[in-house]
Amino acid sequence: MISRKKYAREVKSIPKGFDNPNEFFTYVYNDQDIIWMGQNTNHLHSKDGIMEAMVSSIKKGDYAKYPPPDGFPELQDLVQEDLGLTHGFDCLITAGATESLYHTANNILEPENNTLTCDPGYLIIDNFCSRFGEVRSIPIYNPECGYKLTPQLARENLDENTKLICLIDPLNPLGSSYTKQEIKEFKEISEEHDIYLLHDITYRDFARDHHLMAKYAPDRTITIYSFSKIYGMAGLRIGAMIASPELISSVRTILINDLGTNVVSQKGAIAAVNSKYEWLDRIKDTTRSNQEIIKKAVDQVDGAFIPVYPSDANMLAIDIYDTGIKPSELADYLLERGIFTREGTYTSKLYGHRYLRVSFSIPTEHVKYFAECFLEAMDQLKVEK
Ligand SMILES: Cc1ncc(COP(=O)(O)O)c(C=O)c1O
Repeated sequence: MISRKKYAREVKSIPKGFDNPNEFFTYVYNDQDIIWMGQNTNHLHSKDGIMEAMVSSIKKGDYAKYPPPDGFPELQDLVQEDLGLTHGFDCLITAGATESLYHTANNILEPENNTLTCDPGYLIIDNFCSRFGEVRSIPIYNPECGYKLTPQLARENLDENTKLICLIDPLNPLGSSYTKQEIKEFKEISEEHDIYLLHDITYRDFARDHHLMAKYAPDRTITIYSFSKIYGMAGLRIGAMIASPELISSVRTILINDLGTNVVSQKGAIAAVNSKYEWLDRIKDTTRSNQEIIKKAVDQVDGAFIPVYPSDANMLAIDIYDTGIKPSELADYLLERGIFTREGTYTSKLYGHRYLRVSFSIPTEHVKYFAECFLEAMDQLKVEK
């Protein structure tokens, strides 16, 4: 018999009426009218050439061939140019940022090592790192540390076996992000203690201001890049990792997707980076004003607050603990009204009972409808208590 791995993931709470997560996701996926605020995907793209590039690739029958294993050089170059990480760096195109996260953990960690992550955070990273070593998840849900893993917290929690520090910037689920000064301090920490830095920049393009760790610590940083969020291509499963040629070459020895990443997705990704500056401001502006609508609604509810506002990502957390209403009750209520949101337990082991996470890179009329339903829910659920 095969026993469960020690790092096997617990199934998080499943919305009422569903037996397992797959059943729930199939339900929301198949309902075209569901308002998608439960995953931080981007539903604001219009005709901008991305879909057209993919359709053209399909029509040519490109998909009959395997792509080059590291990715099309044109796409590798575009990703590196987008970040300004051209000289002294290399890039691998992967099946989403997710694959890059896994390779980073696998490549860097030995069993005696530990990794610093934070709670709340993107728990899939913790899970991957725990397959290869110990994970130290640092509680950051408080204003004293600015709701992020600060250099000071890192110093307090590291030891001689710490090999990796994970910085999600901006942070899923709170939207906190790093200043240039903090980035420089992490560079010092990495040099002083011989530590690698995983810089997950999945939400970078939504931020007001953003600083790349790789520019300060080029040999010790693995930058994780996603096409799922600003580019609106989550279902296409495409992302990248950018690091020193030495690090990328060691990752090549442990690849899983040895035959390369989806050809059609790569063609779409090329069109996406090429057209970025035609649509970026529009999407950022809509996302930012959508966030204001949510803030106005939350401010009307006694006991509810947004820990990090404005969020530098396309999602934020709404803390409802002091209202006495549970995030699961609120999520179920909203789902009945056709709005998919995420309970805090998806991104926190310690604080999940406090907040609901909502994403807002969706049409503004949907956000307005959410604001109405949220206020109605907070009234209604309070009465029922
Ligand atoms: C911080 C972070 N990294 C990576 C991912 C996954 O990205 P991808 O869809 O490119 O695999 C997510 C998805 O929500 C995320 O929040």
